[in-house]
Amino acid sequence: MRIAIYSSKPYEKPFLDAANADAAHELVYLDARLSTTTADLARGAPAVSIFVGDDASAPVLRALHAGGTRLLALRSAGFNHVDVAEAERLGITVARVPAYSPYAVAEHAVGLMLTLNRKFHRAYARVREQNFALDGLMGFDMHGKTAGVIGTGKIGEAVCAILRGFGCRVLAFDPVKNQACEAMGVEYVPLADLYAASDIVTLHCPLTPATKHLINAAALAAMKPGVMLINTSRGAVVDTRALIAALKRGHVGSVGLDVYEEEGDLFFKDLSAEVIQDDVFVRLLTFPNVLVTAHQGFFTREACEAIARTTIDSATGFDRAGAAGVPEANRVSTRLLK
Ligand code: NAI
Repeated sequence: MRIAIYSSKPYEKPFLDAANADAAHELVYLDARLSTTTADLARGAPAVSIFVGDDASAPVLRALHAGGTRLLALRSAGFNHVDVAEAERLGITVARVPAYSPYAVAEHAVGLMLTLNRKFHRAYARVREQNFALDGLMGFDMHGKTAGVIGTGKIGEAVCAILRGFGCRVLAFDPVKNQACEAMGVEYVPLADLYAASDIVTLHCPLTPATKHLINAAALAAMKPGVMLINTSRGAVVDTRALIAALKRGHVGSVGLDVYEEEGDLFFKDLSAEVIQDDVFVRLLTFPNVLVTAHQGFFTREACEAIARTTIDSATGFDRAGAAGVPEANRVSTRLLK
């Protein structure tokens, strides 16, 4: 089956080619992001594969459908960039990679915490300039601190395990309790209590209408002064303007972001020679206590292998038996939005 692979990057190709080693599919690698203007590139391809920065809104899905596409295979777990209801209406099957490596994202989130806390990024630059002074580098023991984990699914659970290993008290909020987390001593509390008690708040919930701007001005004000906020989930879970205001007031102590509300125009590209037009993003970069990575939480060898394998498996199943051939766990439907 012909698969048009949008937003494909050179680092993904070896993994996708290996997963397609039996050449069951014709993989057409496209640099372009999927949008209304690029949908036509997939004309005649029964399957299209996209990543997190692609646009799979209703008009784009209608254009893909008109070109003969019947499978949309996401190379991601999150599916907030897809109009799932419209896909269902059109009869386009949507598949995702429900779990590739929760450890990849969890370890990245904890890496952000350690870097912000112990200021590795500043120490690295300083030592290279032969400045061996410690002023300004003081951190805190993670041991004994309270961390609040919002969303204790696969990634949140892995974060809880690492933080429990550090000797943190871990509070959690999730509408669905995870028994494995409870077994490791994680305490489920209402959000207000999590905000009030946590030295570190880390986000691992999906972006849904209920979580859009969950971290707004009121939530930030309810957090402890000096709190560290980590977001490796989706940018729009945080109201960036409210975050900037809280940083300027000095209420928020440090912030680690792997995702940003408007990252679609920025991330996964080399813009080093460009003038960035997004003033909100550029303001974020000016804070010494804000660390931004460009959506690289997933980016480990193991995760890339699993993403490629699951994507090709979904396509093979679809090729053989249509929607029913796609493993149930990979299928995205409006049921998941409820
Ligand atoms: P998951 O589906 O296993 O877990 C999500 C958890 O969030 C579930 O337990 C769910 O009950 C909970 N949840 C839903 N609504 C909530 C709310 N209002 N408040 C608190 N919790 C809520 O998903 P997984 O694999 O753990 O991934 C979590 C998110 O991480 C994804 O949705 C995606 O947005 C993001 N992600 C980021 C990556 C990166 O590279 N930075 C890579 C992979 C995922």
